[in-house]
Amino acid sequence: MDSSDFLGFLSARSSVREYEETPLSEDEITYIMSCAGTVPSAGNLEAWDVVVVTDAELRLALAEAAFGQEHVGKAPVLFVVCANYVRSMSQYGERGILYAVQDATIACTYMMLAAHARGLATCWTGAFDEDDVREILGLPPHVRPLVILAAGHGRQPIRRAERMDIGEHVHHDTW
Ligand SMILES: Cc1cc2nc3c(=O)[nH]c(=O)nc-3n(C[C@H](O)[C@H](O)[C@H](O)COP(=O)(O)O)c2cc1C
Repeated sequence: MDSSDFLGFLSARSSVREYEETPLSEDEITYIMSCAGTVPSAGNLEAWDVVVVTDAELRLALAEAAFGQEHVGKAPVLFVVCANYVRSMSQYGERGILYAVQDATIACTYMMLAAHARGLATCWTGAFDEDDVREILGLPPHVRPLVILAAGHGRQPIRRAERMDIGEHVHHDTW
């Protein structure tokens, strides 16, 4: 892939919130998780974990925890991406909290793009009640759920959302 192909690949992704009922294959799930396994992390401590949820009742419970967002209940698989504080704090103390959040966010980004590479649709979902998600999935206290990445075979066409001009983000040398 050359660099213009890569930009085209990124530009062709958008959040999709309607999915076919067809589940993801084991191979697709394994591919997505294998791509996550390549992410960089602070001190290479890999302070992230993912709960792969395919059970229908759990998915509906997670949709409720996500304030009734319908796409969460409809997606055939939900990847609940978590920061694992203990793994990072054991080396970095308080700073490890921030590193674990960064590690997990990078993992989720890779997963979103891995799904896109396989022609699958995703929606990064950050609005949910953390305590509810903790209880539904039985998460231990040192693990914080950050993202419910809904994934499936998309029904909606890809629509590129408007973006700010890149110049509004970029500052040269000083702010
Ligand atoms: C941190 C974060 C939280 C998000 N939370 C939600 C959410 O709770 N529900 C939802 O439908 N989309 C959510 N999104 C998706 C954004 O709405 C979407 O990425 C944005 O509108 C840009 O559209 P695009 O992904 O199609 O480019 C979230 C995205 C991010 C990065």
